[in-house]
Amino acid sequence: MWYCLRMQRWWIDTSSEVEDSIVRRILSLAAGSDIISFAGGLPSAAHFPVREVGEVLESLAREPALVRKALQYGETEGYRPLREIIAESYQRKDGLPIQPEQVGITTGSQQAIYLLARALGQRPVVVERPTYLAALAAFRLAGNGIREIPLPEDGPEAGGLPDVEEGMCYAVPNFQNPTGITWSNEKREVVARWAKQRSILLVEDDPYGELRFRGARQKPLAAFAPAHTILLGSFSKILAPGMRVGWFVVPQEGEQLFAKLRSLKETADLHTSTFAQVVIAEYYRRGFAQAHIEAVAAVYGKRARLMRELLAEHLLEVRCTDPEGGMFLWATLPEGMRARELFHLALEEGVAFVPGDVFYATEPDERTFRLNFTAVDEAEMEEGVRRLARAYARARRGT
Ligand SMILES: Cc1ncc(COP(=O)(O)O)c(C=O)c1O
Repeated sequence: MWYCLRMQRWWIDTSSEVEDSIVRRILSLAAGSDIISFAGGLPSAAHFPVREVGEVLESLAREPALVRKALQYGETEGYRPLREIIAESYQRKDGLPIQPEQVGITTGSQQAIYLLARALGQRPVVVERPTYLAALAAFRLAGNGIREIPLPEDGPEAGGLPDVEEGMCYAVPNFQNPTGITWSNEKREVVARWAKQRSILLVEDDPYGELRFRGARQKPLAAFAPAHTILLGSFSKILAPGMRVGWFVVPQEGEQLFAKLRSLKETADLHTSTFAQVVIAEYYRRGFAQAHIEAVAAVYGKRARLMRELLAEHLLEVRCTDPEGGMFLWATLPEGMRARELFHLALEEGVAFVPGDVFYATEPDERTFRLNFTAVDEAEMEEGVRRLARAYARARRGT
């Protein structure tokens, strides 16, 4: 749809904004009212590392040369010490021989998705079904042809992978948004083999991987198909989203792809906030990161368990996934019920979630919905699920 603004002088195409704005409406509806929201994808603000960030800022006040650097324009590819920290972390945790030159800093990992969508042009992008809504929006905006693959609870099956020869496969193999699903190592190998036999770039988006609260850490897709995988990461969920700092890691010998993404980024914002990058690098240099990640993952694990227990107690007929980490549960209503209808009744009862249909590129499963378990505390969660149960009972009765 084309809108004309200011006496036909400017034209704006709004056709791909639709789903995103529905979610924005849900989130703004839920914010600032007495609605208990399981809708957003927010980390727990009560657990932000406020004291540690304060200490970093105090220490910076004693280092004027570093502060000057932090306040100056920086390089498009990012602040070198932060790129080193990210590369070293992949070496230590996953045994991947990543070098700092392969790492590009972005304004949140969302920007990396956007840049990749632009770089892809008209080639097809394969996504999980369902998948992260704002990635779908970026692919739609860039005009990429979207193909969906079914997502069983341990990752995609070989039979579900499409016969495309080139393009990109965007996936969130750890604690996916929206489902909470984690791919098994076997499924990672299957998808890696499929990509390697074709000219397909795997985009492994992993903002939640560090937030594991049970089970063993899986190998990244990049370990199975190193020359075919671009890794995306973010400090949003392991430190704070307000920093707006994420990254991409191109394969070794991926200089051309790196240069392409860097030049696209340059036209978007020149570079990511140097100040935020310096603060994060100092936060890591002072050793605050690991303890914080462990503490937050433990809290989220308790909340995920509680939410599942409450759902089992109050909404027995609703099936839901059992995530090993991350921030979301994916629920499915019994045959014949629709999440959109439950959603309207839930708002009347004072609780919000995101209806699942927005996470599908085509033919949505209208019985599904996403619940966030990290942003509310335990008491609010209990009350929220009680309200949801009241809405569910009304939906069942048709009132
Ligand atoms: C799967 C996934 N990728 C990327 C992002 C973007 O995060 P950010 O831009 O804050 O790094 C999100 C945010 O919720 C997400 O769920």
